[in-house]
Amino acid sequence: MQPGSILCVTLGGDATQVLEPLIARGWDVTQAGDLVAAGRIQAHRHFKVGVLIVGASLNVPEAAVEACVNASPGSEWVTLCETEALEHPGFRELVLGCFFDHRVMPIDLGELEMTLQHADQRALLRLRHDAAHRHAVDALGMVGQGPAITRLRQQIRKVAATDAPVLIGGESGSGKELAARAIHQCSQRSAGPFVAVNCGAISPNLIQSELFGHERGAFTGASSERRGLIEAANGGTIFLDEIGDLPVELQTNLLRFLQEKTISRVGAVRNLHVDVRVVAASHVDLAEAVAVGQFRDDLFYRLNVLSIEVAPLRRRMEDVPILAEYFFQRCAAKSRARVKGFSRQAVAAMLAHAWPGNVRELFNRVQRAVVMTDRRLIGPNDLGLAPADNPVGMGLDVARTVAERDAIVLTLTRVGRNITHAARELGVSRMTLYRLMDKHSIALDSEVRPHVTQPWPTPQPNLRTAPAASTANPLETMLGTPVPGFHADWTGAGKPSGRA
Ligand SMILES: Nc1ncnc2c1ncn2[C@@H]1O[C@H](COP(=O)(O)OP(=O)(O)OP(=O)(O)O)[C@@H](O)[C@H]1O
Ligand SMILES: [Mg+2]
Repeated sequence: MQPGSILCVTLGGDATQVLEPLIARGWDVTQAGDLVAAGRIQAHRHFKVGVLIVGASLNVPEAAVEACVNASPGSEWVTLCETEALEHPGFRELVLGCFFDHRVMPIDLGELEMTLQHADQRALLRLRHDAAHRHAVDALGMVGQGPAITRLRQQIRKVAATDAPVLIGGESGSGKELAARAIHQCSQRSAGPFVAVNCGAISPNLIQSELFGHERGAFTGASSERRGLIEAANGGTIFLDEIGDLPVELQTNLLRFLQEKTISRVGAVRNLHVDVRVVAASHVDLAEAVAVGQFRDDLFYRLNVLSIEVAPLRRRMEDVPILAEYFFQRCAAKSRARVKGFSRQAVAAMLAHAWPGNVRELFNRVQRAVVMTDRRLIGPNDLGLAPADNPVGMGLDVARTVAERDAIVLTLTRVGRNITHAARELGVSRMTLYRLMDKHSIALDSEVRPHVTQPWPTPQPNLRTAPAASTANPLETMLGTPVPGFHADWTGAGKPSGRA
């Protein structure tokens, strides 16, 4: 490998014994005598590798070095120091948290060159990885590449081309508001306002005047006239979140607005024409609310002209790693944490978790992990998740079976349940994969989850449950005894469907 370019910052010690031979061997070395000079150079030029030369002790605050290292994301740093410097706990912590490697003086030039080349390769890898993830977020702020999110994007573009009301369904935290904003952004109204209203969060006696506005003197305390939120959205979109919480009297007013495009402020004698597109969302099933008389059926049909369902995260597990990485980048950029990413165990634990709180839960767990971890790589514990692969206490046969099933489930999840791709990744034929899916009762059209050591949340009503005969855990049947930590994963399992 060819010698590359490095930024070398000398804070102490004898730099000449290192730099001159490096330059003589063809390394392109840019030198900085202190951290301020290093900062100036970094502002104009990116270096994949930085070298910090420290003498017997660090003569600047550790935080200043940390800031210098963090000033060039994507760079890898190596420090050269005397043994004494490593006696200081603060410096040791800095080396462990911020540096790719360290070398102790006197330096063996061959070893140093090897370290610098490794650092260079690693920086290159990181740049490629970061570039791939930068494209993960689209212009609508949505992350995900699996079939469910691809379908959602298509639906958003289709409904955005019309002006009809849209009803968005989906579990809490799945991304309904994000979808509503995306519809607005893609529509011809994007230059107009987007007004989001949480119908469940406004007190019932205020909601009418909040939505429709009021005239002066309309009620005690109405000392001046006030525009409502629907008027404020004129020319744009109003997002009525948790529409199922709208009191029945107001449902009538809203229906009138949807039919006639006019509203009447509280206490007004005239109607006002408003040009507002309505997007509504509910995490409860509105059809059911209609059935029990809690929601007007005529309003439901009016709102439900176009409907979109945002899939729960557990049905698009292939997006979990990419979402986690996206949230990690966002959180890490804001924090001073030295954490670099997720350990393989953390990714496996995330893929084994059922995400009852959906994307919001994932964001919260990543945010917490970035703040709380004191390691370079976030582990399952930092995320508050149980490790996914915990074969302790299982016999070897059981552990093998669990591992086989996990490999199939994780691969299917990663490739968006595409049998051909999964079979290729697993190194088996499609027929063998079908046979193994049969053996493990993995169904393509239901959620597939790997083995977990913590209980799943209560199954959602929309989960498909397998017929009674096949709900038994096949391992338990095989062994004739309950298998600890390996249960409740068989509902929804059945014969694979969608065979060609
Ligand atoms: N595909 C996605 N890409 C990036 N961020 C997402 C995605 N989906 C959801 N989020 C983020 O997850 C969080 C929750 O999303 P959002 O508020 O849209 O969910 P919601 O369905 O409206 O939740 P609730 O029912 O609790 O109101 C937000 O921070 C949102 O930006
Ligand atoms: Mg919401």
